[in-house]
Amino acid sequence: MQHFQTHLHDEAGTAALGRAFAQALAPGLTIYLHGDLGAGKTALTRAMLQAAGHAGHVKSPTYTLAEPYTVQIGGRPVEVIHFDLYRLASPEEFLDAGFREYFGADTICIIEWPEKAEGVLPAPDINMHLGISGNGRDIKCEALSVQGTQCLDRLKFAPNL
Ligand SMILES: Nc1ncnc2c1ncn2[C@@H]1O[C@H](COP(=O)(O)OP(=O)(O)O)[C@@H](O)[C@H]1O
Ligand SMILES: [Mg+2]
Repeated sequence: MQHFQTHLHDEAGTAALGRAFAQALAPGLTIYLHGDLGAGKTALTRAMLQAAGHAGHVKSPTYTLAEPYTVQIGGRPVEVIHFDLYRLASPEEFLDAGFREYFGADTICIIEWPEKAEGVLPAPDINMHLGISGNGRDIKCEALSVQGTQCLDRLKFAPNL
């Protein structure tokens, strides 16, 4: 699947999509999460991480900018790095922090506010756009690589439209 869009009526809908993604993820994926403050980027990431076996809290790493988690993907431990680049001062800061070293075939990177590191951020396999719509959220997902397409192909999500 190349792309899809759906409406998430409530937070439970966001959680359900996160759980579905947790089953579809594979090492090596880079996922960009676009959307304004409160659009649900962190809520979706939290649902993915917790469904993949992370037992503790997940909050946006607003000040540390990056937070690594070890979760279970396909029955194996995989490092997932959750970025929130909202407070990134410049793309150079991303490079200086050594954040590019997190990206690779063995890790999964999920990035809120990717536009803040434009030009230095590795390209996405999946681009997601979240937006507030009525009391719920609209989401568009787009695959931009073979790996991204394969992930969306594995996604088992039945949106209750
Ligand atoms: N589908 C949804 N419908 C309504 N509210 C939602 C939905 N998904 C998440 N929320 C709520 O929207 C807010 C999203 O906050 P957060 O995930 O921190 O946003 P962001 O990381 O994009 O700034 C949370 O209060 C969450 O409970
Ligand atoms: Mg957030």
